[in-house]
Amino acid sequence: MQNNTFSTLFIGQNLIKLSSVDSTNNYLRNLTSSNSEPLPEGTVIMADHQFAGRGQRGNVWHAAPKKNLTFSVLLKPNFITAEHQFLINILVSVAINVVLAKYVPLGLSIKWPNDIYVNDKKIGGVLIENTIVGSNIKQSIIGIGLNINQSVFEDELKTSAVSISQILQQDVNLMVLLNEICVQLEQLYLKLRLGKEKTLQELYTSKLYRLNQIAKYIYKGKVFDGVLEGVSSTGLLRIKPLNDDVLEFGFKEVAFV
Ligand code: BTN
Repeated sequence: MQNNTFSTLFIGQNLIKLSSVDSTNNYLRNLTSSNSEPLPEGTVIMADHQFAGRGQRGNVWHAAPKKNLTFSVLLKPNFITAEHQFLINILVSVAINVVLAKYVPLGLSIKWPNDIYVNDKKIGGVLIENTIVGSNIKQSIIGIGLNINQSVFEDELKTSAVSISQILQQDVNLMVLLNEICVQLEQLYLKLRLGKEKTLQELYTSKLYRLNQIAKYIYKGKVFDGVLEGVSSTGLLRIKPLNDDVLEFGFKEVAFV
């Protein structure tokens, strides 16, 4: 184990810092499959620079080197069933949200399933890759990308991305923030392990982007107006179209306009 000064019991105690890697998720997955000794739960891989960072839906994750947080966390939540794997999305997005709220008190939300937003701009994204054995989750590789000290984004992200330093007009210490996220993640994970998923689910719902607002969505190429009411126990997005009953949507089925 590499030593560090994080104030946690296990998340981030084995911290591997890389200057450059394709993707911290790939690196962590390779480590879990090649190590003869099992990698400790809570192992964190962080990189100054990812040259092939991966996002959801096969997208590329762009992050200027040394300006942002790009890291992956290994959890072994074998107490969570495959059916309830969305609990990990909830855990991670709530933990990030709680920490970032100390820096950005206004306009922070979680855009389903786990994008972190400030008003209408994305400040962070999460890529969760679970390994399921039988009916439970054997391991979860949780990749987190947060825009921290990047002051300029490339053209295609200019209108959709934002960083903490753009909001605060000052830089934030990346390692301090990483420690805070590990602490929060660990606290909520231990709660989850004690069966307190309801509290977490309620926190998640209360932070949802567009909760209880009338807004436009696209389903099968058609735009409709609806009110986002929350998520189902398996993580489906619940939207009530105006003049219709509530519908539940899976990831990729519905898009926010
Ligand atoms: C998204 O919103 O599309 C998810 C972005 C996830 C990016 C992080 S950065 C660290 C980890 N390594 C990756 O290749 N992706 C995740």
